[in-house]
Amino acid sequence: MNVASASGSSGPSGSVDLASPDTFLHGAPHEALTALRRTDPVHWQPMDGEPGFWAVLRHADVVRVARHAEIFSASEGGIVIEDPPPQTLARVRTMLAAMDPPRHSAHRGPLSEHFRPRAIARREERVRDICRAIMAEARERADVEFVHEVAAPLPTRVFGEFFGLPRQDWSYLQKLAERITSSQDPDFGGSGYGDDDAGAEMAAYAIEFAAARRQHDPVEDLTSAILRADFGGHPMSDFDFGGFFVQLVTAGNDTTKGMLSSGLLTLLRHPDQMAELRADPSLIARAVEEIVRYENPLHYFRRTALVDTVLADTRISAGDKVAMYYTSANRDETVFDNPQSFNIHRHPNPHLSFGMGAHFCLGAHLARLEGRLFFEELLATFARVELIGEPVRIRSNLNNSLKGLPVRLMTEIRQIRGV
Ligand code: HEM
Repeated sequence: MNVASASGSSGPSGSVDLASPDTFLHGAPHEALTALRRTDPVHWQPMDGEPGFWAVLRHADVVRVARHAEIFSASEGGIVIEDPPPQTLARVRTMLAAMDPPRHSAHRGPLSEHFRPRAIARREERVRDICRAIMAEARERADVEFVHEVAAPLPTRVFGEFFGLPRQDWSYLQKLAERITSSQDPDFGGSGYGDDDAGAEMAAYAIEFAAARRQHDPVEDLTSAILRADFGGHPMSDFDFGGFFVQLVTAGNDTTKGMLSSGLLTLLRHPDQMAELRADPSLIARAVEEIVRYENPLHYFRRTALVDTVLADTRISAGDKVAMYYTSANRDETVFDNPQSFNIHRHPNPHLSFGMGAHFCLGAHLARLEGRLFFEELLATFARVELIGEPVRIRSNLNNSLKGLPVRLMTEIRQIRGV
């Protein structure tokens, strides 16, 4: 048994610092993670200025943590490794992802019907129209910064319609979402995780929006559905709506934007597989699943141990932080053949990028639909896509995303030959 614990001596030191956003600047440290999965799969990672955390690296152990909310709490310390100040933690706890049972199920129940496969499938035509409009706008420009000009508008517009938000507010909310999730990157103005001013600003927007909506007859959108639903015997307060809204908009925006832009970059780096998708678009759904495994938009989510426990022979004490590393679990060689290679034909593909258990991503079916339609429309519109500059990654220990992807989009092959 590995007797290392948070309160005792640290475990075998690894060569990688998973707490530092700089570690991920040039991509995930897959080599180090592969070595740790073998030698130290529940790895103690110290942090500057606050207690460190256990990095859970193997697929089976991530599943175990995710499935045992009675041992590993999402609410106790929130879902990121940096301990939030009390005021932020109070707001974070109004988010579904940071609730424990039974509160969690009481809040998730009324929402889940809007995100089930059948409900999401009904949105296909509308989401396709949005994708076509985005591609038509991109055609006008040809040279684009793909992350912000092509990928980001999809989740922004889908959410705007989902919630019935005024169109003029959509890009403002997208920028706030980006500030919240990218605040470890100096380009977005922050140094820690979760720009709290942006989070509070978005919650205030949502609270005002909910209050105004209550004055009107309900309409058929998610806002009205949430406001008239029963959450464990009472309606949702405007304050709670604020937290919910922030969670849905941030969770849905940046992850989806990440999936679309990392997906394109991965396909550009695997031109044979891109060609296969062009030749047979029915392969795109499976390819999206592989994109989400290979370039999972979130590196980890955190839990806090409520009791002393043992995980993979490692003693974990009550109060310790525990981070489920999807980035590592998705490349666990005991689960995936050739885990380091990108393979659009991979099946089955039990990746953990959408989490597992009670907190399994509420928006997974929506994200899959957006991914499939986006790539179908992208490949149908542009005969050729070419990288015209260096891709730039977000500085983050949580978000596995790009912030810059300069590409040239060409409708005809002959454009690249200069004919
Ligand atoms: C590729 C895109 C996405 C990825 C990779 C992703 C990933 C995740 C992961 C890993 C979790 C689990 C959290 C945990 O266990 O602590 C989660 C939860 C969640 N996601 Fe997503 N997500 C994506 C898109 C979306 C979208 C489009 C929405 C919009 C509705 C969304 C809403 C949520 C919500 C509300 C939760 C919390 C669920 C709960 O705690 O019950 N996500 N997501």
